[in-house]
Amino acid sequence: MSTTLSNITGNLQAELLEYFLWFHKHPELSYAEFNTTKKIKEILTSLGIEIINTNLKTGLVAIVRAENNSAAAKKTVALRADIDALPVQEESGVSYASQTPGCMHACGHDFHITALLGAAKILHDKRGTLGGDVKLVFQPAEEASGGAVQVMETGALDDVSEIYGMHVGPESENGIIAISPGATFASTTLLKITIAGKGGHAAMPHLCIDPIVAAAQLIQAAQTIVSRSTNPADRVVVSFTHIEAGKTWNTIPPSAFIEGTIRTLGTEKAKQTAARLNDICKGIGIASGCTINLEERRDAPSTDNDPALCEQAAATARALGFRTEPFVPTMAGEDFAVYQEKIRGVFIGFGVESPHALHHPAFAAQTSELARAAELLAAIAEDALLSKTQRI
Ligand code: NI
Repeated sequence: MSTTLSNITGNLQAELLEYFLWFHKHPELSYAEFNTTKKIKEILTSLGIEIINTNLKTGLVAIVRAENNSAAAKKTVALRADIDALPVQEESGVSYASQTPGCMHACGHDFHITALLGAAKILHDKRGTLGGDVKLVFQPAEEASGGAVQVMETGALDDVSEIYGMHVGPESENGIIAISPGATFASTTLLKITIAGKGGHAAMPHLCIDPIVAAAQLIQAAQTIVSRSTNPADRVVVSFTHIEAGKTWNTIPPSAFIEGTIRTLGTEKAKQTAARLNDICKGIGIASGCTINLEERRDAPSTDNDPALCEQAAATARALGFRTEPFVPTMAGEDFAVYQEKIRGVFIGFGVESPHALHHPAFAAQTSELARAAELLAAIAEDALLSKTQRI
């Protein structure tokens, strides 16, 4: 286990709070995190930490290289923070509110950036005793999706054997660590359904093929996927969120359009759910005479926390004096899961106690545990480098 670093936490807290306030005041949307990236780069460079060359336009990957380490024993682990903000007008009332109208760090990614910068500093200071290298992933575009895929495509994580990440949790007490094995964030699939019929006069439905009736039947029938075709012990959501058809009261339109999403804990269940929806589309297509096209696009797989690494990370947290609790699974998505498809990893929750949920305009993270969060991330990486934990 790592030695407790609390003696350095006081100074670090003041420094990290300053960073946090800057990031909170200067949020940037997915794929536009230019100033955020610049600021991260400046801080890392001033610490003497190497930035890896990649073709990322925003976001970056840095590395703390272990000294005094024989190449044969070397293991590389990664820590990841997401860096983008949301198109939300801040209403938190904090003195350090966003200075960009209509844009806010409403998902706490400013906290993630800051904690990872703090971890970088701690790890860099301890590079003489590290059991291997630590890669620091400042990932763009988690909210818009695709950011994790971009990072993976750079190849910068090809030699990484374990990856760890953290998300703030407003529902948890300040400084409490939420951690559970398996799936904690859902697989997300985007659905687009086009229903092509035949338009005409509302008074002559027999001469038309009505896509609105087919759309209504489809939405109703899809409700049976979860209620009748899914094991009640499984967690599955099918939601339709956007429907469009027609323009006026006396004309049957030629087509209808529906959008929605499938959320499942466990990636395999997403495929089964989409297959069932496809059957329903086919069946209603035949019954109604409409041509129904279902387009499904996987946005992110389900997170999949490695049980052995979870135990190890929880032990690290407890050794540092953190209280741990089970992570209550959510049907929200998180593209940390993209890394976990290739690299064993753990995604934990860090309590920041806010009465307002993530993405809410009044969300405000508690900041008193920033240095502790940094200390935890650093210790998780440090312990992971020393561990020989195998997949169980
Ligand atoms: Ni988030």
